[in-house]
Amino acid sequence: MAEAKNLGVVGSGQMGSGIAQLGAMHGLHVWLLDTDPTALYRAKKSISSSLQRFVSKGQISQFSLVHYFTWQAACTEALGRLEYTSNIDELRSADFIVEAIVESEDVKKKLFIELDKITKSSAILASNTSSISITRLASATSRPCQVIGMHFMNPPPIMKLVEIVRGADTSDETFHATKALAERFHKTIICSQDHPGFIVNRILMPMINEAFFTLYTGVATKEDIDTGMKLGTNHPIGPLELADFIGLDVCLSIMKVLHAGLGDSKYAPCPLLVQYVDAGRVGRKCGVGVYDYRKGSEPIKASPRL
Ligand SMILES: NC(=O)c1ccc[n+]([C@@H]2O[C@H](COP(=O)([O-])OP(=O)(O)OC[C@H]3O[C@@H](n4cnc5c(N)ncnc54)[C@H](O)[C@@H]3O)[C@@H](O)[C@H]2O)c1
Repeated sequence: MAEAKNLGVVGSGQMGSGIAQLGAMHGLHVWLLDTDPTALYRAKKSISSSLQRFVSKGQISQFSLVHYFTWQAACTEALGRLEYTSNIDELRSADFIVEAIVESEDVKKKLFIELDKITKSSAILASNTSSISITRLASATSRPCQVIGMHFMNPPPIMKLVEIVRGADTSDETFHATKALAERFHKTIICSQDHPGFIVNRILMPMINEAFFTLYTGVATKEDIDTGMKLGTNHPIGPLELADFIGLDVCLSIMKVLHAGLGDSKYAPCPLLVQYVDAGRVGRKCGVGVYDYRKGSEPIKASPRL
């Protein structure tokens, strides 16, 4: 496959907006699609301020945007390569699409069926899913050999890793095109078999879930759990703070996939995690999760997002 020129990103939440930003920084024309106009508005603001921070820290040059331009001009160029839309038909000419919508197999499958219908036959359909079977998403389309998992870490412009997941029918050509795109974004690649949670979340989410059980059963306060893991195991961020950053709804969805897919009770979501999500306390994105960010009790002084 020729190098991708046009990128479609579906879902403009924390992951989709970051992936769209990466694409624009690296010279791709990007359509960012969301069904929710408010989410698109938020994405536009957050991409613009994130790019400005890259400029003010002098880091935009590392992305090999045309070097004779000033950093500010490079930022303006990148912003000019981004289009925001709620109309899926605008993705028709995309060479490569990354889906980053809600972590639900049913909702993702419906989207893949639609994308399969409207995109050009050569387009690759990648999912940023944290845990869901790529093989099953691929089987909803007429092009399973062009469906792949491309799992960015949060926040995508900063985190160095992309986990690539091949479904049962993913072709070598699709794999190499996906790897080339991740490398164009200066990411390090790891490859996982198509098993629930892949590599990173298979290990990370049970730890976060266990941190919730530790809180739920009264072993310690949230602050001591996070401090224990930061200073005792050299993690840069505590597991409960990290859960708030990822989104408790996303963590719960991943635990459900691990529990159902691996069939072991050790993956059962902690009732406290379930209760927080039921109460709408889904983390930093809504202002309250394990911690309350609305009252200035924020444990993370600076946002990890640049
Ligand atoms: N949050 C993380 O740390 C993280 C990390 C890696 C991967 N992921 C994965 O990325 C995906 C997105 O996660 P997020 O944290 O960005 O979620 P989010 O809740 O911040 O954003 C999801 C966006 O998708 C939109 N959406 C939902 N259904 C849609 C549809 N049918 N068509 C178009 N837009 C739709 C929503 O309006 C919302 O703006 C999930 O699959 C998640 O598992 C998340």
